[in-house]
Amino acid sequence: MINVLFVCLGNICRSPMAEAVFQDMVEKQGLKEKFNIESVGTSSYHVGDKAHPGTRRVLANHGIECHNIARQISRADMDSADYIVAMDRSNAADLQFRTKGTPAEHHIHLLLDFAPQVDFKDVPDPYYSGNFEEVFSLVEAGCRGLLDQIRRDNGI
Ligand code: 4NP
Repeated sequence: MINVLFVCLGNICRSPMAEAVFQDMVEKQGLKEKFNIESVGTSSYHVGDKAHPGTRRVLANHGIECHNIARQISRADMDSADYIVAMDRSNAADLQFRTKGTPAEHHIHLLLDFAPQVDFKDVPDPYYSGNFEEVFSLVEAGCRGLLDQIRRDNGI
């Protein structure tokens, strides 16, 4: 099983979108049985909440389901993830701090590092911008590159 963990601040906008988009890609490529895909927030602000209506709307417009209930990252999440994928550099810095000196610190990536055609590194937070469609395009590009990389890394 390949464990992929998407991380943002609130776990209501960006990381649930990435989880749903990546799950959809994995299923379309016939790899569902090989992956465990989850998302979490670095904060506890929205624990127990459904994904933001903007995230649910943009996913529905693209025919993708979303059932996420927000939760905060735990030690077990970090220790079990093969790929810890942060939505922005602030999330990545938080993760570096939490995993310092453990094997998990070597598993941290930025989603947009997998989208070399995008010339910035942070998925903008639609909680403030409201631009869920733009975020969807970036998340899709990052997830596509991430899945390609994981397939190469694991020979699948
Ligand atoms: P997310 O967006 O990290 O993409 O889920 C946010 C959600 C909530 C807050 C900030 C960002 N907040 O401050 O409550």
